[in-house]
Amino acid sequence: MFGFFSGKSKKVEEVVDLSVLETDIHSHLIPGVDDGSQSMEESISLLKQLKELGYKKVITTPHIFYDSFIDGYDILYQKLEDLRLKVKENNIDIEIVLSGEYLLDDDIKERVEKNQILSFGDNYLLFEFPMRNEPMGYEEWLFDLQLSGYNLILAHPERYTFLNNDIKKYYKLKDRGILFQVNISSFSGYYGEHIQKLVEKLTNENLVDLIGTDCHGQRHIDALKKSLHSPVLKQLVNSGRLINNKL
Ligand SMILES: [Fe+2]
Repeated sequence: MFGFFSGKSKKVEEVVDLSVLETDIHSHLIPGVDDGSQSMEESISLLKQLKELGYKKVITTPHIFYDSFIDGYDILYQKLEDLRLKVKENNIDIEIVLSGEYLLDDDIKERVEKNQILSFGDNYLLFEFPMRNEPMGYEEWLFDLQLSGYNLILAHPERYTFLNNDIKKYYKLKDRGILFQVNISSFSGYYGEHIQKLVEKLTNENLVDLIGTDCHGQRHIDALKKSLHSPVLKQLVNSGRLINNKL
């Protein structure tokens, strides 16, 4: 009668361990400069949680488009310094690097000419497309950026409506040497079921190079934690093909 429970121990699910990544390359944690964190308190709370998730370094990437920060990035650097000080005061052992998430539009050309691109690491440049409409002539723009020496990373390729779920378009971008950074939250359907399916497809086709939190606020940490139960994400993180820890 005592055998009733024997051999039936419940299997404990192992969630995805993000600490192997070491570096997050996409977030909006400089307080009050874009649609990301709106206060120092919020940024500190988010950074604390990112540290608990295993990150050692975050590259924070405010949205840069049209005429934003057109007179220079002084305000970003000033706020970065304030944030680093607060992080230290709060004993959070995490490195913060400033870069940007550049919208591919007319103004990026001017910024390249003026040497006003905040790249990181080995001249990596994180960029995004407009969500819905295909930017006219974007292939030429990408080529010009590469000629200028930038290593291009496309932020959340799974989210653009104009790519229309067409895997051939993704291969075309990859053939041009564009790296793909998908959002961790996409794996739990945070942006919708079709985006979850697409991110799984991109993963299964071995097209994903980097994963990012794209953390704007607490909602993204919560969604990210749900994704830690995704078997597809687990397979990706354990595959060794992600290059987060090399940046
Ligand atoms: Fe972003």
